[in-house]
Amino acid sequence: MTDTLYTGISQLVTPRPGPQRGAAMRELKVIENAALLVRDGQIGWVGPAAEAPRADHEHDLGGVAVVPGLVDPHTHAVWAGDRLADFEARVEGVSYETILARGGGIRSTMRATAAASVAELVALARPRLQALWDSGATTVEVKSGYGLDFGAEIRMLGAVHELAAEFTLVPTLLIHVPPTEGREAYVQAICEELIPEVAREGLATAVDVFCEKEAFSVAETRVILEAARTHGFATKLHADQFHALGGVELACELGALSVDHLEASGPAQVAALAASPTVATVLPGVTLHLGLPAAPARALIDAGACVAVGTDLNPGSSPVFSSGLALALTVRLCGLTPAEALSACTVNAAAALGLGDRGALVPGQRADFLALHSADWRDLAYTLGANPVRGVWMGGAPVTP
Ligand code: NIG
Ligand code: FE
Repeated sequence: MTDTLYTGISQLVTPRPGPQRGAAMRELKVIENAALLVRDGQIGWVGPAAEAPRADHEHDLGGVAVVPGLVDPHTHAVWAGDRLADFEARVEGVSYETILARGGGIRSTMRATAAASVAELVALARPRLQALWDSGATTVEVKSGYGLDFGAEIRMLGAVHELAAEFTLVPTLLIHVPPTEGREAYVQAICEELIPEVAREGLATAVDVFCEKEAFSVAETRVILEAARTHGFATKLHADQFHALGGVELACELGALSVDHLEASGPAQVAALAASPTVATVLPGVTLHLGLPAAPARALIDAGACVAVGTDLNPGSSPVFSSGLALALTVRLCGLTPAEALSACTVNAAAALGLGDRGALVPGQRADFLALHSADWRDLAYTLGANPVRGVWMGGAPVTP
């Protein structure tokens, strides 16, 4: 058993382990002049450097802040093609929903992705995941959802599995947009063919549905998520991005791990989430890129909900390649304090993936941590446009210079 003691930590900052709700999201533990002991890939000890135990190896970080590795609980990092023409059209005034209704948007990414091989998808996604990693994300969820047919969905999940040899990834089957004709038969085939196949092959841990006017109705979403539960999957929803149709209430009723987006959520949805263990995941990149209202993350925390943050990295609604930037944007766009944003991007984001073994720097958790350039951890929430992360450790091993 080898121990490594990290010293030279100006501040070690961590939320408590497990999902934090409401005011508890602000209650960080801050240890000044700290040390951190890594043992077998886990945190063995943290405390004041003056009280540190002896170790086989010692590594002096030179007086910088250390925080937990970030968890990105919502990405669509595997895609082919681009959405640059959509972007230009939107800037000139055409809405995201109009582009989608005309057969563009997500549907154009589906055509390009369906035409790509697994090897091409892997090569396209690798630098995106590397960018998230460099920004401090030590665990990243990746969704399918750009497959035109079930074969393409399986290829997307196959690409995620190949990439999981290089990154720590959590794969999700996303049921994204229905075909223009034959929706009923499509939903039935999802439940009777696609979900059972993904379960048999062990290709995903959760099933997610885009519940929206231009995608699946609440009734269709319920049928799909109930089939997912029958096959042992955890469930997630994209809901209330443009319209509050009832997806949040459905997520709470079904005990979904998380319900994500929430830009159109109001007091009723805030109250439902405050009374539910379902994590409310907000995606500030969408607010910035599509000019949507910010999700009511401030109201959610004030009401006592568990709020997480994700990049939603995707070509259409959130080309945000940095988990640190998502954290910093949540402070600006959603009114979270830096402490709340850190809890949202660590323990709460882990909870949104059903993971309780990471996100906090306490003994027994995975030794996923970040050394910042700064001696003050708040630079993580403050810095825009430069990377405040100097080094990333996963399972106790340094993974970036
Ligand atoms: O989370 N809203 C639905 N799905 C994605 C966007 C996908 C895309 O535009 O390509 C999202 O925003
Ligand atoms: Fe999404």
